[in-house]
Amino acid sequence: TPILVLSGVNLGRLGKREPAVYGRATYADLVAEVEKTAAELGVAVACRQTDDEATMIGWLHEAADTGAAVILNPGAWTHYSYALRDAAAALAGPLIEVHLSQVAAREPFRHVSVIGPVATGTITGLGIQGYLLALRALATMGGPGVV
Ligand code: DQA
Repeated sequence: TPILVLSGVNLGRLGKREPAVYGRATYADLVAEVEKTAAELGVAVACRQTDDEATMIGWLHEAADTGAAVILNPGAWTHYSYALRDAAAALAGPLIEVHLSQVAAREPFRHVSVIGPVATGTITGLGIQGYLLALRALATMGGPGVV
């Protein structure tokens, strides 16, 4: 079972979207970096992005069934989607929440994550490096859900 690297709403617009906040790298660049690091670490990954909350929840259900480890950037859903949180709470394997920007330094509504309390760990503010560090952590931790 590959590690699922899931990016939520608006993250397909990386590079074009608020580059001063999120940087110039595109979503395709993010995927390329994640795949390169996964190959170096000898782990399998599947990268997916959607703007549709139901699709994202379906992927979390899939991970709950397969036991896959998940790296998740939920975008704005982070701050209010109890549905996503409930799906994340039902995962069998580890869940690492990632944010490109330093959410704690931004608007107050971004200071709350409804996902954080059900995540194994959270990495914020380190841009695409955060995804790569999350992969490295999972590869080091090993165990079920990390192949
Ligand atoms: C984000 C932070 C969220 O507050 C925002 O809504 C996003 C991206 C990040 O990666 O920094 O869409 O999750």
